[in-house]
Amino acid sequence: MNPQTAPILEKIIPEAEDFLPLNGTDYVEFYVGNAKQAAHFYKTAFGFQSLAYAGLATGLKDRESYVVQQGKIRLVLTSPLHGGTEIGRHVDQHGDGVKAVALWVDDAEKSFHETVKRGAQPYLEPKTESDAHGEVKRSGIRAYGDTVHLFVERSQYNGVFLPGFVEWKTDYNPAPAGLKYVDHMVANVGWGEMNQWVNFYARILGFAQLISFDDKDISTDYTALMSKVMSNGNGRIKFPINEPAEGKKKSQIEEYLDFYGGPGIQHIAVATDNIVETVSALKSRGVEFLTVPTTYYDDLLDRVGQIDEDLQPLRELGILVDRDEEGYLLQIFTKPVEPRPTVFFEIIQRKGAKSFGKGNFKALFEAIEREQELRGTL
Ligand code: FE2
Repeated sequence: MNPQTAPILEKIIPEAEDFLPLNGTDYVEFYVGNAKQAAHFYKTAFGFQSLAYAGLATGLKDRESYVVQQGKIRLVLTSPLHGGTEIGRHVDQHGDGVKAVALWVDDAEKSFHETVKRGAQPYLEPKTESDAHGEVKRSGIRAYGDTVHLFVERSQYNGVFLPGFVEWKTDYNPAPAGLKYVDHMVANVGWGEMNQWVNFYARILGFAQLISFDDKDISTDYTALMSKVMSNGNGRIKFPINEPAEGKKKSQIEEYLDFYGGPGIQHIAVATDNIVETVSALKSRGVEFLTVPTTYYDDLLDRVGQIDEDLQPLRELGILVDRDEEGYLLQIFTKPVEPRPTVFFEIIQRKGAKSFGKGNFKALFEAIEREQELRGTL
């Protein structure tokens, strides 16, 4: 085994206490400048399907939301309908970005009170909404920057998404691209703030720390960062947290913080069962990916050992491979999906590996630096 890929296990609590518990990611809500066009982009480019809508036509006066779904992944794209709104302020400050990571729970009221008792800042007091399809209880707490976590309890609901939303039926329904579920979501936080947020997830949400990397693991000639991965007990929610470290030039985390105007979600990793098919489809539909020099593939099998996939399609598509004690994984990263160099997606296929591709960080960061160079922000 390549020692470079060995995860450092450093549990800060004996094991995660699933006191909520969190059953999975319920949805991810983006605040965006133009929700209608964003929904079109996620359908056309990424293969999401039309699911639900709320806006002027359903009686909302201040906002419009389009919900798209692929596999278990639900994205909510929300824009304001007039000036002076909190949503508009968020878009002005951050550009298009993730406002809410909604977590599926059995009891939204208990989740709120337990986490607030442990020190969370309230965002949404427990609230029950209902329509002809039943009721949903939601509550929420604040996380890093303007990002929030919502707790969603939907056992008494059989509608299409949430009360207040109607089914969004469209004539234009491009084929899915094989995306199945959210594997992990990564936060970028400010200088010296990583441990504060590691403690937040440990103390307030009962997460355990899986892995940590420091700037000796993750640095190139120019950039450096530190990262710790927090996971809930059943492993369905994994939040790596990055903070910038001092490098010769501006780190990509610092670039993100400057353009996002503070901490926020850096990337959403979505899983597929067949990364070659998925990435081929996404590429043909206009998704832009970071590429690594083809020399990355020259000694790949020496580094990661035997893999099931043919090397040629991986090389052509720029898919990266890494191995840990339990297996291997294949991954690739998109370019940012908005004008600011902020939020991007990762496509990941796990073949036993439970880690995050540490062996690829260097190749990846060098690819990001080439992009930074082109943007003039290195
Ligand atoms: Fe990732």
